[in-house]
Amino acid sequence: MISGVRGTLIDFTGDPFVLGDENSIRVEQDGLLVIEEGKILNRGNYNQLIKHYPHLETIDYSGYYVMPGFIDTHVHYSQIGIIGSYGKHLLEWLETYVYNEEAKFKDIEYSRRAAIFFLEELIQNGTTTALVFASVHPQSVEVFFEEAYKRNMRMIAGKVMMSRNAPKELLDTPSMSYEESKSLIEKWHGKGRLLYAVTPRFGITCSREQLDYAGRLLKEFPGVYLHTHLAETKDEIRLTNQLFPDCADYLEVYEKSELVTNRSVFAHGIHLSDSELKRLSNAHSSIAFCPTSNLFLGSGLFNLGKVLDSKHPVKVGIGTDVGAGTGLSMFGTLNEAYKVAALQDQKLSSAKGFYLLTLGGAKSISLDNQLGNFEKGKEADFVVLNPCATPLLNFRNNSNNRNGIFDGIDGIIDRLFSLMCMGDDRVIESVFISGNLSYSQKRSI
Ligand code: GUN
Ligand code: ZN
Repeated sequence: MISGVRGTLIDFTGDPFVLGDENSIRVEQDGLLVIEEGKILNRGNYNQLIKHYPHLETIDYSGYYVMPGFIDTHVHYSQIGIIGSYGKHLLEWLETYVYNEEAKFKDIEYSRRAAIFFLEELIQNGTTTALVFASVHPQSVEVFFEEAYKRNMRMIAGKVMMSRNAPKELLDTPSMSYEESKSLIEKWHGKGRLLYAVTPRFGITCSREQLDYAGRLLKEFPGVYLHTHLAETKDEIRLTNQLFPDCADYLEVYEKSELVTNRSVFAHGIHLSDSELKRLSNAHSSIAFCPTSNLFLGSGLFNLGKVLDSKHPVKVGIGTDVGAGTGLSMFGTLNEAYKVAALQDQKLSSAKGFYLLTLGGAKSISLDNQLGNFEKGKEADFVVLNPCATPLLNFRNNSNNRNGIFDGIDGIIDRLFSLMCMGDDRVIESVFISGNLSYSQKRSI
């Protein structure tokens, strides 16, 4: 069965940080996206392409923007219930709010309610793929994967490995975390569109033996990911150095257990030395930049310009890091990313921002052969955006209000920036997952 979507198609064919914005963004103002069996079959100008598909069943989103689904490269579904909890820095915040909440995920029904709510919220925010921390309990991963599988989503998740420096009810042991992760990998990795990430929480809660077990899993199952935290706050780094006195720096804690690979994603990476950045670059690892979380916890300003430095660029994706992050909206997250960059005299254009949510995000989790833009054969996860979704956005962006001065590609790029600053879930008109309409708010422009 072949179907079509008509609208303004916006995607990226290259990296705007390398090629410049104009050479990487691709806009088809009156475009047609053709979908067959969950994959992109074709894309192009509506009038030219429709001739080849005379009987195409097409949904008309003229006036709306059609973009690849957004990718959230670091988020904790087990923390959705404590989002917006007041007044602590990272280590205190974990002890005061997070560990108590995550302990509740022992209960499978509690986990399921959270998983369903979280996945529905992701979809309503236009996020079709995420790299997700569950809790230490294997059943928290089971229900998450079950619910993501029902929705046919491309999701990556894992059981948290943590054997020390947290409340007893939340600890596993190194060998137990290995066995439980292994069973989950065997059951879920590659089932439908699901993928597994080996997920040691961070050095503070993992002994060397446990990190070695994580490394063993990566060797035994070469397609799985490594997902952890790195250099988020100065206090965390100080404690990590005390716990691993044989390591010269934080990254070495993970290197010693062979966790720094081309399928490794490190959340935060705010306080890294030049040497650590260079080693991450050489290993083709990725960092998840989580601006709302970094500002909320007062962790620091991520230096995007330095991390993407062309001599030793490190791959970067954008993470909400809910529950330290303050929302699941990728617009809100880009809004804060722009300000974090601005405070360091850097600029994050709309092209660069939306690149990081789509093709750049896909590259950072090694899924750019499957996701990230509208190339033929890629998976048909995409969002339809209403650039005039709120009264304020309508006043700013509706050509009729502004004598048409915003028509043309420059106008689209300008409007995308306004969405990045002021957009929220009201902008997400529809979401397609694997070619199927999964969510729609049926609002008129
Ligand atoms: N470092 C270790 N665990 C966590 C967590 O749950 N959230 C954040 N932001 N940082 C962490
Ligand atoms: Zn996190």
